[in-house]
Amino acid sequence: MTQPSETYADLLGALDHGESLPARWYTDPSILEQEMLQVFRKSWNYVGPAAELTKLGDYVTGYAGNVPVVVVRNDKGLAAFVNVCRHRRHLVMKGRGNATLMQCGYHAWTYDLAGGLRRAPRSASEPGFRLEDFPLLPIRVEALGPFVFVNLDANAPAAKDCYGPILDIIAKSGIDLATIKLHSRNEWKGRANWKAMLENYLECYHCAVAHPGFSAAIDVRPDVYTLASHGWFSSQAGRVRPAALEGKSKVELYDVKGDVAESQYHFLWPNLTININPGFPNLSVDVWLPDGATATRGFSEQYFGPGVDEGFAQSLIAFNLQVAKEDDDLTDSVQHGLVGGLPDRGRFLINSEQLVIQFQRMVARALSGVSPV
Ligand SMILES: [Fe+2]
Repeated sequence: MTQPSETYADLLGALDHGESLPARWYTDPSILEQEMLQVFRKSWNYVGPAAELTKLGDYVTGYAGNVPVVVVRNDKGLAAFVNVCRHRRHLVMKGRGNATLMQCGYHAWTYDLAGGLRRAPRSASEPGFRLEDFPLLPIRVEALGPFVFVNLDANAPAAKDCYGPILDIIAKSGIDLATIKLHSRNEWKGRANWKAMLENYLECYHCAVAHPGFSAAIDVRPDVYTLASHGWFSSQAGRVRPAALEGKSKVELYDVKGDVAESQYHFLWPNLTININPGFPNLSVDVWLPDGATATRGFSEQYFGPGVDEGFAQSLIAFNLQVAKEDDDLTDSVQHGLVGGLPDRGRFLINSEQLVIQFQRMVARALSGVSPV
């Protein structure tokens, strides 16, 4: 839904020269509406860890864009549904846990773990009402390593075809995805458009300016810190600084000594990021969901390898929170800058911000109705 003067071809051509998407794309609810349909309903949306879905009846709820979803383990394996009752569209399941049936808390319509409607009080006296006509709406679900995704699009490529190679890249960091354990999970809110927040994630040009602690731990110089696009996902990687290993940093740091010397920051289209920092085996994920056109809501999960002590865990979590606060200050300011619409376009440095350009290209392609990759 571009302005008459701006075609998708024009926007994509401008991106090739480092000219950003228009400011309006960060404030206009009609753009968000398109993104919900063309991006989030056609992509893999991360829901939660496979480790929470191992026993019959285990379930995890979440969102695919603005659509509530539930993933459950039934006797056939993982199944996923739109988490909305066929009756009055109340949400069926809440949070996560284990259940033998999925019962809506509004009028007690009750579904089995395969999504079939088993019971609807008083429906026996309703003429022509058949329980089998109202199952929960099924959607696709796929586990990739320890991560479970859902997709509302029957025609989308498989998650493993989009993101499969990331498993080997993560393994090279020294993290064993088979043994990491969820330590904690939290929800958060951001005060900028979801794209502005992810675009900040996708470059480290700002790191030396805005992240003194991060830049003391990780070598962020452009000849050392790498950016790589892999189609459906992209990866940034940096080495721990020798001065940090020797305890000679000018700023106070968590203990970066450990098996993991390479830090990795992955972005999986459209809204999942995976972080690995130097030190003892650690991995965190963030999911970034639009909360209206000008705000973001999300959740984070922090994982650690076996035997990582709580002291390290807390100091790494504090490090991540500090970096996140510094980033929030940046993106809050960007959102203030976008609201007025002037200047309409920003100018990227195409050799430092190529992953941001690639992300904007994917958004523009998706909104134009073609595959983002
Ligand atoms: Fe940052």
